[in-house]
Amino acid sequence: MKYGHFDDQTREYVITRPDTPMPWINYIGCENYFGILSATAGGYSYYKDARLRRLTRGRYNNVPMDFGGRYIYVRDNASGAFFSPSWMPVRGKLDAYECRHGMGYSIISGKKDGIAASTRYFVPVGENLEIWDVTVTNERAAAADLSLFSVAEFCLWDAQDDATNFQRNFSTGEVEVVDEVIYHKTEYRERRNHFAFFASSEKLAGFDTQREAFLGPWRGWDDPKAVAEGKSSASIAHGWQPIASNHVKLSLKPGESRRIVFFLGYHENPKDQKFDPPGSQTVNKAGVLPTIAKFRDPKNVDAAFAALKVFWDGLLAKCQVSTPDIHTDRMVNVWNAYQCMATFNMSRSASTFESGIGRGLGFRDSNQDLLGFVHMVPERARQRILDLAATQFASGGAYHQYQPMTKKGNNDIGGGFNDDPHWLIIGVSQYLKETGDFSILDEAVPFDTTPGTEVPLYDHLKRSIQYALDNIGPHGLPLIGQADWNDCLNLNCFSDEPGQSFQCLKGKDGKRAESVFIGGLMVHSAKELSALAREHGRPADEEFYAGVARDMEEVVKKHGWDGEWFLRAYDDFGHKVGSKECDEGKIFIEPQGYCVIAGIGLGDGRARQALDSVKKYLATPHGIVLQQPAYSRYRIELGEISSYPPGYKENAGIFCHNNPWVIIGETILGNGDQAHDYYSRICPSAREEISDLHKNEPYVFSQMIAGRDAPTHGEAKNSWLTGTAAWTYYAATQWILGIRPEYRGLRVAPVIPKTWDGFTATRIYRGVTYDITVKRAGQGNRIALTVDGKTIDGSVVPPPPAGVKSVKVEAVLS
Ligand code: BGC
Ligand code: NOJ
Repeated sequence: MKYGHFDDQTREYVITRPDTPMPWINYIGCENYFGILSATAGGYSYYKDARLRRLTRGRYNNVPMDFGGRYIYVRDNASGAFFSPSWMPVRGKLDAYECRHGMGYSIISGKKDGIAASTRYFVPVGENLEIWDVTVTNERAAAADLSLFSVAEFCLWDAQDDATNFQRNFSTGEVEVVDEVIYHKTEYRERRNHFAFFASSEKLAGFDTQREAFLGPWRGWDDPKAVAEGKSSASIAHGWQPIASNHVKLSLKPGESRRIVFFLGYHENPKDQKFDPPGSQTVNKAGVLPTIAKFRDPKNVDAAFAALKVFWDGLLAKCQVSTPDIHTDRMVNVWNAYQCMATFNMSRSASTFESGIGRGLGFRDSNQDLLGFVHMVPERARQRILDLAATQFASGGAYHQYQPMTKKGNNDIGGGFNDDPHWLIIGVSQYLKETGDFSILDEAVPFDTTPGTEVPLYDHLKRSIQYALDNIGPHGLPLIGQADWNDCLNLNCFSDEPGQSFQCLKGKDGKRAESVFIGGLMVHSAKELSALAREHGRPADEEFYAGVARDMEEVVKKHGWDGEWFLRAYDDFGHKVGSKECDEGKIFIEPQGYCVIAGIGLGDGRARQALDSVKKYLATPHGIVLQQPAYSRYRIELGEISSYPPGYKENAGIFCHNNPWVIIGETILGNGDQAHDYYSRICPSAREEISDLHKNEPYVFSQMIAGRDAPTHGEAKNSWLTGTAAWTYYAATQWILGIRPEYRGLRVAPVIPKTWDGFTATRIYRGVTYDITVKRAGQGNRIALTVDGKTIDGSVVPPPPAGVKSVKVEAVLS
């Protein structure tokens, strides 16, 4: 069953009924001002940091789940009846409903009793504000006398404090209303110099800023007193819960439409300009008045919307493909690329499943996210890399997360996740292959964001490997530390407190538990660093890191091979994890996919055997599960992984993030059919028909799909913010379609299904547009390339002579 459909032409997903199985959200904002926006106008906004600078309030785990948002009420003043065009929060029956989620905007429309209202929500490029552009149409035969109410509820900035510290916060709220603009200035009088503002393009009939006054005692958002009575009360919030609500009156002739623009923004004054006049407690508005004047004019709103389209068209144009598979096309061309920008912007902080107060930007996550967006925003990728590297310790270890507002590492989680440092090498390598910007390696970057400790970025990469070399266990494999990619494999955690996995080294010296997965990852990262050193003119380093990779490869083969697949780990007692000797958790997905990516066992049949074992033991119609058999009981020596009921999350759920590792592995082994088959199993568009089972948005990947041991096998959770976005995008574009940036050119080496007769692609790479046509002449993966009419050897298209801006590539597969 479906709840909507893709509109591939407009790059929108069209939701046609509001009661989707989960909130189906979109994101607005792509730079500093962000919002979550559901198909029923739910969600909240923030500036830069979902925890520290939250503008509007989100309600967590609510009933219904998606509550609190950017709500509009339309009231018929003759009858007193009212509705919300976004269905929520009034609900009730609408005569028509539609939500179009597009690139950085959503248009939510509803109709009732001959009155239609449609709101286009978006954040203009370059602005710290969001627009609610409402058009109301009277489709009746008679004139209509209407009232429009808008409402947003402010969060008192620090979302964590806002959700807990009521004894204080019920007394701090402050607003100011000047020239029909509502200014939210809670905490402005202290150290802060920022405020929010809410304004409208129309003359107001009234406003409210105190929640209780707008809603009325004991009433909810579905039936606010102001709306029911058709009258705002000009309330001024003192403490309690400040809101911004505008009341606009409209008299519409039959067939007449009117447009009303509301906008909510954030402003920061320079530190010394706190109050105006000095000494008073009034917000200094000078800096924001021109912006308010600008967006009160709908012409400027239209221009901003047009600019947003241009912005997204430009980003997506970097890679466009046309294949025989509609799902591949729409994911690669639109939605997967779009999701990669969301993971870049949000990391894992704010979504339906992430509260925005829990996590900042993750070190491993953000480095891996680079794989999916570096070609779209290379300059921003550059900055992200430098920010991440600055949270590395001098040992080469790294903070596991940092806050985007302060860019400082999070002390409450600390470091010691021993896979973390390797991802920096992988992220930086990808950046260099895409951009060729080797100057980044010379940038001076501190350790632990401490001034005076700067070394070139290149040295940070070397420390990453040094950290691994300094943390080797009894079998010669890397020590796992707090955990590796699998946050829940806590082999040093003998605590009785589930959920305490991040503190789990307590009482343990961490000197025995080893990770075969990190072994594979290290082979990959050391090979990457060796190649990077070669390109950077460091032959001694090139050789050294090649040696590191070779040595670790031998260790993995010797102590990390179980006979039919790669082992997962050794625990603190030296017991194998992920072995046929285990009663449960005999085979894990991570080392199979990743060791093949690292090139381990390609020549001796182990790679093929490992992936065959994946197919035999782990693959399901809904994707590949993380391990089998699932742990049926809690095992203190393995940690959080066994705390989940079988089939969920790391305990044998389909953890989509590592499915692309196997997909890439299959392409490395030349098996395009299997690679694309696995891709399709987790691909949201390909799962659209089973939306009632899948539940999450059919336009973005989810982190997890319940595994075969779960009663809800096939049900997805944790959509949007997942490493799945970058890895599936990377797997599809660079390995299945095979269009792969390398240091010395663009490789074109597709490994596509046998049934495909070819495909075309346009890829903008280092400022040159490559028009690529791939044709199948035989069933294999052998490639013959013609570049601008000339046959070349191999599959790497070298950079064209200076000044040439477009290149035609023809590839024949046989
Ligand atoms: C989840 C992991 C996640 C970790 C970090 C765990 O509870 O199962 O998937 O990586 O929390 O927050
Ligand atoms: C989600 C986390 O964000 C990621 O860092 C981790 O690798 C996976 N869960 C697996 O535990």
